[in-house]
Amino acid sequence: MTSRTTDPIDAGRPDGWWRSAVVYQIYPRSFQDSDGDGIGDIPGITRRIDYLADLGVDVLWLSPVYRSPQVDNGYDISDYQDIDPEFGTLADLDALIAAAHERGIKLVMDLVVNHTSDQHPWFVESRDPASAKRDWYIWRPARPGFEPGTPGAEPDRSPAAFAPSAWAYDPTSREYYFALFSAGQPDLNWENPDVRQAVYAMMRWWIDRGIDGFRMDVINLISKPAELTGAAPLDPDGDQLRLRVTNGPRLHEFLQEMNRETGLDEHNLVTVGEMPGSTVETAVLTTDPDRHELNMVFTFEHVRMDRGPGSRLWDFADVPLSALKGNLAHWQDGLADVGWNSLYFDNHDQPRAVSRFGDDSPEHRVNSAKTLGTVLHLHKGTPYVYQGEELGMTNAPLTEIGQYRDISALNVHAAALAAGVPEGEALRFLAARSRDHARTPMQWDAGAHAGFTTGTPWLALNPNYDTINADAARRDPDSVFAHFRKLIALRHESAAVQEGRFQLLLPDHEQLWAFTRSLGDETMLVLANCSSSPVTVPAEGLPDVTGAELLLGTHAAGDAGELAPWESRILRLR
Ligand code: NOJ
Repeated sequence: MTSRTTDPIDAGRPDGWWRSAVVYQIYPRSFQDSDGDGIGDIPGITRRIDYLADLGVDVLWLSPVYRSPQVDNGYDISDYQDIDPEFGTLADLDALIAAAHERGIKLVMDLVVNHTSDQHPWFVESRDPASAKRDWYIWRPARPGFEPGTPGAEPDRSPAAFAPSAWAYDPTSREYYFALFSAGQPDLNWENPDVRQAVYAMMRWWIDRGIDGFRMDVINLISKPAELTGAAPLDPDGDQLRLRVTNGPRLHEFLQEMNRETGLDEHNLVTVGEMPGSTVETAVLTTDPDRHELNMVFTFEHVRMDRGPGSRLWDFADVPLSALKGNLAHWQDGLADVGWNSLYFDNHDQPRAVSRFGDDSPEHRVNSAKTLGTVLHLHKGTPYVYQGEELGMTNAPLTEIGQYRDISALNVHAAALAAGVPEGEALRFLAARSRDHARTPMQWDAGAHAGFTTGTPWLALNPNYDTINADAARRDPDSVFAHFRKLIALRHESAAVQEGRFQLLLPDHEQLWAFTRSLGDETMLVLANCSSSPVTVPAEGLPDVTGAELLLGTHAAGDAGELAPWESRILRLR
């Protein structure tokens, strides 16, 4: 590999550049359609590049655009080195990279290498027990004493994320393959060094094409537990494998090897590992720069706090503010000295933050979207804006199963009904938590199909696009969009926002989210009323704000002793 200073592919990526960056996530299928087929595409993104430049973001992360049968909307890849015709061509992607780079914006690709599609040539070959690729995936015979392919003959009882069993039956070889998400997404066997080298070669190919980093899908699942690697017997009555695949024994070894073999650090690429089930301890190990693994991880702790107590997929609960802010503070403290945080409320797998953590009623939507943005963007780490979050887009009014498209929603619905749960209960869960809420098309304007497509959208638009849309937001100086622009600009300007030490205040308060960020002699105080009722600012537990400068607020400076519903203030203390 050539050295960093002379290599043209590294241009524009100085050491640590990503520590002051804001990332914008695009779900291409739902962003902008350019050819009228009702599905967003890469030329559509390029058409909207000036909108993104105007918002001020530094990096675009594209959810997968590779060739795929679209069982899980592209998280099932059949060719890592080509673009799905639904989304365009490699030439379209090159044009997007160029358009982004011209505006100083970087591009991050989604790397989905825990599993491939069952249509990937590697897996097609692997179906033949005699092939050299049999061992590229995880194969097991039927449960002893059972006829292969009959109910109960799966090698163990672990469920998949989107299917009743993590073992999919292959009638040709009469064996089962391990597929943690769905039968269309077989897990790769990372124990096999040829698999790893094939992945690294593919990554180098993308790096040479000029991309600036990778978001790594469920990357902490790649190292499998002993039962799957053959080092320990599989318990046919066991049902925990699905949970036990997280943070496996060789995870850090594999990440270090990947970094070395592809030059992730050498080229100053930005890397974020999606890590369900990761803890602060795993994150420290993964993001310690001296260990050369990844720059940051996506934790799931704060977005799983509202799960019900048991394992039933359709149970959920409300989360007290003290628990939510306490969890973020735990991560701030845990990564204060070593490693780095990623900051998100929204992404393509989560319901809309303003509907979940805020108040999406007409009265409070704008201020609660702004205040959630303020809180998140003033934490230390790299903030992620998910398309439409900057508009305060809300959950969609989904009431019938026929309105859902997501494989996960359909699986939850089927599992609930199979367990004898009344359909209303399953639909209540989906109406609150389904991934489809994040995937309704981007609301550009109040015209036909919100300006998303001239055809029929693949998923119905949220009908509130007549009032909530980018066109209206950009003309309104008090919009959520205007507020996000200011938050992003503040991060770029302020070393205290980028690197300042975090301290949570009033940890038990159930309405106020308050914290400071301090660097040198500068201290910023964030005061946010995360409730739909007014709140009196407590006399105790907060620093003196006499003479403080209001850097950004949701409301015109009013009564210092009270915050209106969803009012927030960023103050620079004197
Ligand atoms: C996480 C992705 O974000 C999600 O959309 C996908 O369904 C799973 N990984 C499987 O790839």
